[in-house]
Amino acid sequence: MPGSFADAWAIADGVEGWLTPDQARTLFDAATKVPSGHAAIEVGSHRGKSTILLASGLRPGVTLTAIDPFDDPRWGGGPESLEIFTANLERAGVADRVELHRGVSQEAANTWSGPPVSLAWIDGAHDRDSVLIDIDGWDRHLVGGGTMLLHDAFSAIGTTRAVLRRLWWTRRYRYVGCERTLVVFQKEERSMTGAVLDAVRLSPRLAFFARMVAIKLARRRGLSALERLFMRGENEPLI
Ligand SMILES: C[S@@+](CC[C@H](N)C(=O)[O-])C[C@H]1O[C@@H](n2cnc3c(N)ncnc32)[C@H](O)[C@@H]1O
Repeated sequence: MPGSFADAWAIADGVEGWLTPDQARTLFDAATKVPSGHAAIEVGSHRGKSTILLASGLRPGVTLTAIDPFDDPRWGGGPESLEIFTANLERAGVADRVELHRGVSQEAANTWSGPPVSLAWIDGAHDRDSVLIDIDGWDRHLVGGGTMLLHDAFSAIGTTRAVLRRLWWTRRYRYVGCERTLVVFQKEERSMTGAVLDAVRLSPRLAFFARMVAIKLARRRGLSALERLFMRGENEPLI
């Protein structure tokens, strides 16, 4: 059976990465729903923060494939990254539930020969084209009813553009909801009315996106009064 969320977060909270506690909970809960014999995919593992949450929630017989080149300095990668990732997973007791694909998502999706994929967590490079490649690559393998989760939607410009392009107006995915910048979709044929309602339900995220961008711009320019004006509370995370 899956471990407890509290135990998983007790370890993952101390791992370098970018997740709020509520986002961590969303990942853990999504992992618990992957049926035995199916696979979960993670694009972008970094030090293993989200890997630990996902792997801890899995049922027996489900493996998480973690995909990351681990050597890209633009993302804080380097020669020691894989060692740190492995040590974190061992500390959390989930190393035996994770298969590592050291490389990029596109190549992993093109050569995928594993079980049907019921969960795809996309948190790799955040430029528009990379996110589109990740969405399209794993969409091909995701079963009907499967869950696609993306991070930094309506915060990072590239991720937002990709989500708007593929998932905002579509009859192939249902918008489930979001936890700040973590957005959840379920692969499911939609009626025209359902698709319109989803698009309407997602629209308020555009105002959230405008606020996130305004905060980041103000911060970059050192305009702290403006930054505070847009923030909800002093320590609002931008993820
Ligand atoms: C935002 S971090 C991931 C954070 C991680 N999910 C966590 O919870 O801490 C992005 C990661 O994506 C990786 N990455 C970048 N491009 C990638 C790609 N095309 N395929 C797979 N991983 C990629 C980077 O090496 C980096 O480790």
